[in-house]
Amino acid sequence: MNNSLQLTKTLYDYADKNYISFHTPGHKGKIDLPASVLDVTELEETDNLFHPSGVIEESQKELAASLGCNQVIFLPNGATSGNLGVFYALFREGDKALVDRNCHISVINALVLSGVMPVFTESSFFDHLPLPVEPKNVKALLEKEPDLKAIFVTSPNYYGMLADIRQLSALAKQHRIPLIVDEAHGTHFYYNEKGQNSALHCGADISILSLHKNLPVLTQCGAIAYNSNDFDRIKQGVKCFTSTSPSYLLMSAMDQLADRMRKKGREDLKKITEYTVILREKIRKIKNLFLIETERYDPTRIVISIKNCNTTIDRLQDYLKQKHRIVCEMTDERHIVFIITLCNTEKELECLYDALLAASDKFGHSVSNDESEIPSFSSHMAMSPKAAHFSQKEEIPLSQAVGRIAGENMICFPPSIPIAVLGEQMTKQTIENIRKFAGRESILAVKQEQA
Ligand SMILES: Cc1ncc(COP(=O)(O)O)c(C=O)c1O
Repeated sequence: MNNSLQLTKTLYDYADKNYISFHTPGHKGKIDLPASVLDVTELEETDNLFHPSGVIEESQKELAASLGCNQVIFLPNGATSGNLGVFYALFREGDKALVDRNCHISVINALVLSGVMPVFTESSFFDHLPLPVEPKNVKALLEKEPDLKAIFVTSPNYYGMLADIRQLSALAKQHRIPLIVDEAHGTHFYYNEKGQNSALHCGADISILSLHKNLPVLTQCGAIAYNSNDFDRIKQGVKCFTSTSPSYLLMSAMDQLADRMRKKGREDLKKITEYTVILREKIRKIKNLFLIETERYDPTRIVISIKNCNTTIDRLQDYLKQKHRIVCEMTDERHIVFIITLCNTEKELECLYDALLAASDKFGHSVSNDESEIPSFSSHMAMSPKAAHFSQKEEIPLSQAVGRIAGENMICFPPSIPIAVLGEQMTKQTIENIRKFAGRESILAVKQEQA
């Protein structure tokens, strides 16, 4: 059998099915870019990403102006390279930083690479989903640990919940340290009226953006946006994690994004957000589905809990796809997430509503079991993630793991935040979490003579 071009055929076949996309990338298959024409290299005319003095410099300025900030660095290797680069640039081995435990794996990897010792925030939950960091917890940690070099938080999180950046920024300023926000899921906020809810407009110093999640650009388009003065340091850090052949196709996509947002993008975003607000009102009335809404949330991220619905998440996901051509962004055991961007239409939102209503009728009601399995974390870092990464390790049964140091990271959905982090001393609670969420009976631990 000839297996050549299987991937490409699959992509074309998938496109032919005309599913309605409520997932990334934000362009939803609706932008047109002539790939090979735009895919060039550094030429006299085309400038250089890390020594920009021509069209790239101008294009970055355009994007910065459209976001409403001082500086932008394109990240053609995604927000992942931004998180790695910022840690690498701003911290020294052994520095302590306050880190949101609800962080992306690239942040844990950044800790390993930079040698930073994280002081993790506590997590609280709503319907089993981790809530954003609370300023009162951050305040307490800042008082307890006076030598913290930065506050690093995720906002919004994957479920569209936002941290109170204004209060966090006030705390950071009081302690004269930067507030850095992994804002991978929030670039569209910059195009709301007055940049409402965007981290930099609420006082953050640096924001790491994954443009492709919510806006019409190609996958892997990211940017660091900031108002601080560390431009050269950050650029050098990012350079370490960027290909020496940065994609001009991706950079052109970002260039075109800034242009589109300047012309009609804001208006399109406003319109779809208004439709989304109406959609939410209707979803709230669907009997067996529970729309997740916390104190601060992104209206364009629809998160539904099936706690009152007589189905499993897999059955619901399959039903929406097979019967209604609706493809979601992600699911965990209990929730389904839909991402709406300015490339979705009012009609598509209506289809989503009809599908959810039909699903509720089809599956019916069930009594929720709200009290089950809310995890808690007691984090004591016995060594830095970097030291643990480079230590010798051994696989041990969980029955012997209390008091030992984790030699691997464990991240599961739920609870969507790391249940074990390299370098963390494991407690009874850690072991319970690993059993419950990862279903494992063993873990890699740092060998005892190394600890
Ligand atoms: C919170 C967060 N930060 C960073 C990233 C990495 O973004 P990218 O895919 O652009 O590298 C992700 C990706 O899902 C994310 O969810």
